[in-house]
Amino acid sequence: MKLPERVTICDVGPRDGFQIDPDWIPTELKVEVIDRLSEAGLPRIEVTSFVHPKVVPQMRDAEAVMARIRRRAGTVYAALVPNDKGAVRAADAGVDELHTVVSASESHNLANVNMTIAESLEKLRAVMQVAARAGVRVGCGISTSFGCPFEGDVPLEQLERIVGALVDMGARAIGLADTTGMANPRQVGRVLERLVPRFSGVEWTLHTHDTRALAIPNILAAMEHGVTHFDASIGGLGGCPFAPGASGNVCTEDLVHGLHAMGVETGIDLDRLIATANRVEAIVGRTLPGQIIKAGKWDRRYPLPDGVAARLRRPGVPDVS
Ligand code: COA
Ligand code: ZN
Repeated sequence: MKLPERVTICDVGPRDGFQIDPDWIPTELKVEVIDRLSEAGLPRIEVTSFVHPKVVPQMRDAEAVMARIRRRAGTVYAALVPNDKGAVRAADAGVDELHTVVSASESHNLANVNMTIAESLEKLRAVMQVAARAGVRVGCGISTSFGCPFEGDVPLEQLERIVGALVDMGARAIGLADTTGMANPRQVGRVLERLVPRFSGVEWTLHTHDTRALAIPNILAAMEHGVTHFDASIGGLGGCPFAPGASGNVCTEDLVHGLHAMGVETGIDLDRLIATANRVEAIVGRTLPGQIIKAGKWDRRYPLPDGVAARLRRPGVPDVS
């Protein structure tokens, strides 16, 4: 297996996860989770979104969240924006990096941001100008890159056209999002084989949802094709309010655990991450999809059953200690 030595993970839980929570999560609890993620050493966190407060009410405290978080040197604080209005709000709030959104399918783009793809691309051009003036970096995400819950297959030519339009307006970082977990590893490989050589110099991120249990296999496929940036959500929170059937992102602590087990570095303190996931579970008040908070890390050991322990001590039985 061809694996990178190190990958960069962005925790999108405070945005992709909290945005769909039906119960209001108080600002101070959102801030607590973001601060814990910072302390765990996350190199990037998508802390909130600057979208219409009536459309996504859970994110209506975006400015307050940004104002209250404790910033750690070494963590980039990003926020999702759909248009220039959001970009101005985010830049004024001190966001380090804007994450823009457009879908690869018309119907999801209309459902999500009430614009055609062409209209979105015009807004994103304005976002780029706001970002350039404010001196903040931009990463451009493309929802439904691997399939749309309304339209099904998304032609690769269509995805390529949108990537091309974003690159033409100056995008240097592109996120391919599998919004409702429709991708499979072969498809991820095929898409990257086509896009990576055509858009050299682009920093690619894979944004996965584990709706059909293929998020980590898809990440493995992407790593084999040279991708080293991944989005993930603490506890496996996540889901798009405007994509039926959407469920959580790949779980950050599960992904970090698996990467560390394979010797791939993340710079993240896994124990602190697990403690944060447990805290998030308490905050949202339901069992989260993450596996490691239930199973423990790979090196967890259980006490031997009595009879087995006695037999192991007998002479002639191989030492297993
Ligand atoms: N933040 C706050 N208000 C915004 C805004 C933003 N980023 N963008 C637009 N608005 C306001 C406008 O100022 C206008 O206000 P007014 O009625 O007081 O004049 C109003 O919203 C309508 O503006 P318009 O451009 O017509 O927006 P819209 O109603 O078509 O909504 C979006 C478009 C993009 C703002 C909205 O669909 C949205 O916020 N979508 C986000 C979806 C999302 O977060 N999905 C999950 C993550 S992928
Ligand atoms: Zn998502």
